[in-house]
This record gives sequence, C-alpha cells and structure tokens, in this order.
Amino acid sequence: MNEPTTRSTPLATNALAAAIQPSATLAVSGRAKELAAQGKDVLALSAGEPDFRPPEPVVRAVRDFINSKAVKYAPVSGLPELLDAAAADLSEFHGRPFSRREILVSCGAKHSLANLMLVTLSPGDEVVITAPYWVSYTDIVTLGGGTPVIVESSREHGLRLQPDALARVLTPRTKFVIFNSPSNPTGVGYTGAQLRALGEVIVARAPQAWILCDDIYRHLTYDGFEQVSAWRALEGLTEQLVFADGVSKSHAMTGFRIGFLAGPREVIDAAGRIQGQMTSGATTTSQIAAIAALTDPACAVAMNEMRVAFARRRALMLEGLGALPRVNVPAPDGAFYLFLDVSAHVGPGTQFADDLDLATWLLEQKLVATVPGTPFGAPGNIRISYATDDASLREGLARLEEAFTGLPTARG
Ligand SMILES: Cc1ncc(COP(=O)(O)O)c(C=O)c1O
Repeated sequence: MNEPTTRSTPLATNALAAAIQPSATLAVSGRAKELAAQGKDVLALSAGEPDFRPPEPVVRAVRDFINSKAVKYAPVSGLPELLDAAAADLSEFHGRPFSRREILVSCGAKHSLANLMLVTLSPGDEVVITAPYWVSYTDIVTLGGGTPVIVESSREHGLRLQPDALARVLTPRTKFVIFNSPSNPTGVGYTGAQLRALGEVIVARAPQAWILCDDIYRHLTYDGFEQVSAWRALEGLTEQLVFADGVSKSHAMTGFRIGFLAGPREVIDAAGRIQGQMTSGATTTSQIAAIAALTDPACAVAMNEMRVAFARRRALMLEGLGALPRVNVPAPDGAFYLFLDVSAHVGPGTQFADDLDLATWLLEQKLVATVPGTPFGAPGNIRISYATDDASLREGLARLEEAFTGLPTARG
C-alpha cells in the first residue's frame, strides 16, 4: 500500500502580495456587518456607496435582457453601444470628441485605474497623490510597480492642494498627478481656476507628467458648485490628460461594476490587452445596465433626484455635526462624505491614542461606523458618509452627540 503523500511546502505568496493592503473602508464595513449579525443595532455612516436602488430603466433593461437573450461574453473593450454612450457622455462633459477607440469599459473605475497603472508605470515612476486621498490610490500605484508620492493639503487651505505644495513634489520621474474632484474622502471640489493653477505648475516643473482625473463623483455636487472638466480648464496649457469615470456613484450602480478609462488610443489598447488576459470584458448584463443609465432620459432625472436627496442630507449633517464639541466640519462641495477634524479628541491628554482608536470606540461602544482618517493619509480626522436614509442619519447624529459630549480633550 502506498503511503499518503504529505505536502509540507506552504504555497508562498510574493512581495507584491505583501505590499498590497486590504481596503480600510471595506474593513470597517465588514466589522459593522459582523456586529449587526450579532444583533447589534449598528448605524453605518461608513458606506462609500449610495443607499438608493438604481434607476428603474436600469433594472428593466437588465431584466429584459436576461429574459430574452443568452448572456454571452462581451467584447473585451466593451459593447459598442456602451462605448458610444460613454463617448457621448464624456464628449459632452469635456467639450472634446471621444471615439470608441479612446475608451475602455472595465469592472468599475477602480479596475480602470488599475489597468492604467499596470500599462503605464515602470519601476521608479512616481504618482503624485494629494492627502487626504482615497485609500486605494496608493495600493493601485504599488500594484502597477510605481511609487506613490504623497503631497499634503492643509485645513488652512480647506484641504485643497496648493500649487506651491505641488511644485515641491514634482520631479523628472513624475508620471501622473491625480486630480480627484470632488474628492473622496473630503468632498473638496476644485474650480476651473484652481485646476488651471495646478496645471500650470505641472507643465512648468514636470512637463513629462500626465494628469489623471478621477471624475467618479463629478455629478454629485452641491450648493451651486459645478465640477468643471479638467480638459476645459487646462485648454491651451496641456492635453496630457487621462480620465477615469463611471456610473457607480452617480447612478447608484456600485454593484454593477462598470467603469470607464478614457485616454490615448495606444494606452487604451494596451489596457485592453491586459484586461483581455485578466477579466475579459466587463459583465455583459452590467454593460446593458450602463447603456440604459447613460441613454435613458429617465435616468438623468433619477440621478438628479438622488443628488437633491444627498444635498438635503448634507445640510442635515452639517447642522448636526457642527454642534459637536471641538469638532470642525468643513462644508464639502461634492461626493457624499464629511471629513471631520477630531484632532482635539485624540492624542496625549485625551481618551484616545489616535483616530483609529476613536473610530473603534465609536463603532464598538456607540455602534456608529465611521472611517478613521489615518488610512486616507490624514490622522486626526474621521470620515462620515451621508449615503444613508434620513432616519439613520438623525439617529447617528444623536449617538455622535452623546459620544462626543463630555469627552476629555487635550485643550481643556
Ligand atoms: C475616488 C474614487 N475613485 C474610484 C472609485 C471606484 O469606483 P468603482 O466602484 O466604479 O470601482 C471610488 C470608489 O469608492 C472612489 O471613491
């Protein structure tokens, strides 16, 4: 009888696996769900996604498609109708024509960004990221083999990157500068003039660099702020621009996983080759859904209704959070986040070592899920999402008020 073979060599993971961090925002949501599963009444103010259902024509398009067709592979770069719809949408926003060949449909804007980094970065290439930043930027750059370079924005300047700060980090190795307006996690939006001032510095100091515009929140703006296309803002200055865009946030379609990368044909072709060997085309049914999102006029109406609801919730939260003791809450221009300066409540002389400690306490003891600022490159802050219903927001405010009132602070 043969002896059973024993295997004692562990399947080792490599340096890349070790370098990539799990998403902090997903980690908080995971813990909040665990507590909820234990029967705890957790309020999730941590979500990075709208709580709404997608617009009705989106749902109908998917249902009709599945009922009437076999669901087959889509072309790697995207269904032609979706490429046309995305081209029309991008052309309108940016005021320049896009062709099908300049767009790649991927599994969410995150995938679009990862594809771009994989086909453009070489070791030593630097990507400039403004802190506070979306948690995934640094890891996506690392995944592409490049080096994230963090540039700080200060509270004094409304957490908006200043041209002189940008000038200090640009080098001959700068490959991209990421513009994310409105921003996750701060909701800060940049005007055309502000974008141009940053563009001027880039052209002067690092003429080889490209600007990567992550426009995923461009539709979600409030209080009269309207997102200007960087293409329009930088007209006559530089055309070295590449765009990540999508329907996830604007159309409450995060679970559909559709994003767009728009840029030079050679880059789009290369990204398509990588995608062709990793995921193939994005899910066919989701592409059908995205066509409806971009072409059915009722979806534009629904998108605006969601925006109006977000605006109302933003006002509610700004008023409530503004009353918290020693918490500074600037009014954001867009997205669905508020970025709270809680630095008076963390560190020496306070109850909490840092924002991670505070966020853990809020979740475990007060049953409010927020996201600490540290993973966004901004210790001393927490991010609150208002992408949830009004009743939960009101209850969340009540719990936060109870939590913050009476906390000892370093500054007395
Ligand atoms: C700034 C930013 N860019 C891109 C994405 C990714 O969007 P998607 O869900 O389409 O992958 C997100 C999602 O949280 C985001 O906040």
